[in-house]
Amino acid sequence: MSEDVTERAARNMSPAIDEESDGTARPVLPSHPAVRAADAGRAVTLENVGFRYPNGLEVLRGVSVGIPTGEVTAIVGPSGCGKSTLLHLLAGLLHPTSGGIQFNLDERNERHRLAMVFQQDTLLPWLTVRDNVSLYYKYHRSRLLLDEPFSSVDEPTRIGIHQDVLRIVRALNMTTVLVTHDLAEAVSLANQVVILSARPGTVAAMHKIPFEGERDVLTLRDEPLFLEIYGRLWRDLSRQIPRGKLSDG
Ligand SMILES: Nc1ncnc2c1ncn2[C@@H]1O[C@H](COP(=O)(O)OP(=O)(O)OP(=O)(O)O)[C@@H](O)[C@H]1O
Ligand SMILES: [Mg+2]
Repeated sequence: MSEDVTERAARNMSPAIDEESDGTARPVLPSHPAVRAADAGRAVTLENVGFRYPNGLEVLRGVSVGIPTGEVTAIVGPSGCGKSTLLHLLAGLLHPTSGGIQFNLDERNERHRLAMVFQQDTLLPWLTVRDNVSLYYKYHRSRLLLDEPFSSVDEPTRIGIHQDVLRIVRALNMTTVLVTHDLAEAVSLANQVVILSARPGTVAAMHKIPFEGERDVLTLRDEPLFLEIYGRLWRDLSRQIPRGKLSDG
């Protein structure tokens, strides 16, 4: 890979929050009073989180979710339901307007270990994402927030990326939150899938994914259980699509 591509990837994957690399005073953890130590085994706990933008738009309502340490949590939901907003809350870039977020502060230097791939970064070629995730995590980061990072590549390529990302995430024991519109991606990568309702986003359903951390994402797709879980997710998600949209299409 050329140096140019690696550098570009590094720029695009630069952490949302990082005192060390850019020296600016961006918040590393929310100074919100609701931030306390979270339950053991959970990297982050959202308790009844609500969020309203300053213009009054209510985007999230009563969201309670535990993010297990070292596992992958996928978040799916209709467009505009507040998924990206939720990631910004998890990154500490926004604060809940009601409820609270507890970050587990037990992990050593946890506050230095967060990286976020923003939704606008999705045009990155997959190699830069993969290479950069691995490069980046040489520098001791343990939490990864991904906002539709693989949506711009074709399906076979995407499945290859899934295997790579899963390997890296497992090897480095990274607590990962993945926002995606791709239910197969959610089933392939996640240990749990949170389905949000249409805006204001609430937790419509929560599914545990029973597959091992080390999975072969390609053969997984032939397993009846994969299709069964996919079907369950789809049924829950399709209930969140406004009726007009289904009959229009
Ligand atoms: N800064 C802002 N001020 C006001 N409204 C906003 C702001 N940012 C986003 N919104 C609105 O909040 C709602 C939720 O946005 P968000 O980006 O979190 O949704 P999303 O679930 O990520 O959508 P998508 O699936 O399209 O990525 C949308 O209606 C969006 O237009
Ligand atoms: Mg979004």
